[in-house]
Amino acid sequence: MSDTLENLKRELLESVHSAQDLASLDEARVAALGKKGRITAMMKDMGSLSPEERKTRGQAMNAIKQAVTDAIDARKDELGKAALQARLEQERIDVSLPVRPQPKGRIHPLSQVVDEVIEIFGAMGFEVAEGPDIEDDWHNFEALNFPPDHPARQEHDTFYMPDRTDGSKMVLRTHTSPVQIRHMLENKPPIRAICPGRTFRSDHDATHSPMFHQVEGLVVGKDIHMGHLKGCLIDFCRTFFGVDDLPVRFRPSYFPFTEPSAEVDIGCSRKGGGLTIGHGDDWLEILGSGMVHPNVLKAGGIDPAEYQGFAFGMGIERIAMLKYGIPDLRPFYDSDVRWLGHYGFRPEDIPSTAAR
Ligand code: PHE
Repeated sequence: MSDTLENLKRELLESVHSAQDLASLDEARVAALGKKGRITAMMKDMGSLSPEERKTRGQAMNAIKQAVTDAIDARKDELGKAALQARLEQERIDVSLPVRPQPKGRIHPLSQVVDEVIEIFGAMGFEVAEGPDIEDDWHNFEALNFPPDHPARQEHDTFYMPDRTDGSKMVLRTHTSPVQIRHMLENKPPIRAICPGRTFRSDHDATHSPMFHQVEGLVVGKDIHMGHLKGCLIDFCRTFFGVDDLPVRFRPSYFPFTEPSAEVDIGCSRKGGGLTIGHGDDWLEILGSGMVHPNVLKAGGIDPAEYQGFAFGMGIERIAMLKYGIPDLRPFYDSDVRWLGHYGFRPEDIPSTAAR
């Protein structure tokens, strides 16, 4: 190879090796192999040579071209690795650094207690049924054996919706009992259902809110009797409050939709100003219950000569307050994260009530 070619090769390789980044490497490539590059120009010039000369010169030029191309590839590789290395060094992550605290949501006591109630009754074979918050008079009262001017209607402090075109009024349901009727009309016995949901009464103080929650229960079958009602509710109370020998008392009461009716009390102690569930000589009312009134079965499309049933209803806020020692009802609806932080539940801490 002539000195000129040797020099050219050295010069071009030198410019490739000295490129400090991909941009200058590309400049070196264009200067050597680009359209107007030095190798390209010399290749073009070969036209004037004799065939013999052209052959040797051609081989030499190709060798240079190959050497420069290889050098560019190698340099590109080196620069890429160096760039990655530099980035890795710069972007070092300190894994020993403590993480910033991330606020985690809590489960509201109402959601938690509804889940617990569903779990306990679910284990007894109950399904969950639902109904609308806005009800008609028939489902909320009439079908539940409240005659039009019955005094029990007044006890419900009903919220009425504006008049409908036919003069009737819809109501915000005052209890979850209308779901009993809806469920009977849609399902054939045997029936075992619980209906958790929102309820509304015009009442507001430390223990009453105009919006609150209830869970209804309904069991209908051919030979359902008061013994089933008692066994079922005693089991529920003991499992829910986690006290195996919790005293449970059934006290005669009145509801238009059950006959006989019973209020259910659990044993507690109020000594020393506090409230302890399960032990002591005092009683605390927690739910209403009774054998489904024959008129109610009829309204639900079920023949009372063939079927009997029991029903119960309880306030969810009330049992939540008792189980978890929450003193005031009002903050349940305030969405105050401090209250939720205190009384709410971490998903990872939730025990399985029914499994106990
Ligand atoms: N609906 C009643 C109430 O709101 C509770 C209840 C339900 C009583 C079912 C008996 C049977 O107070």
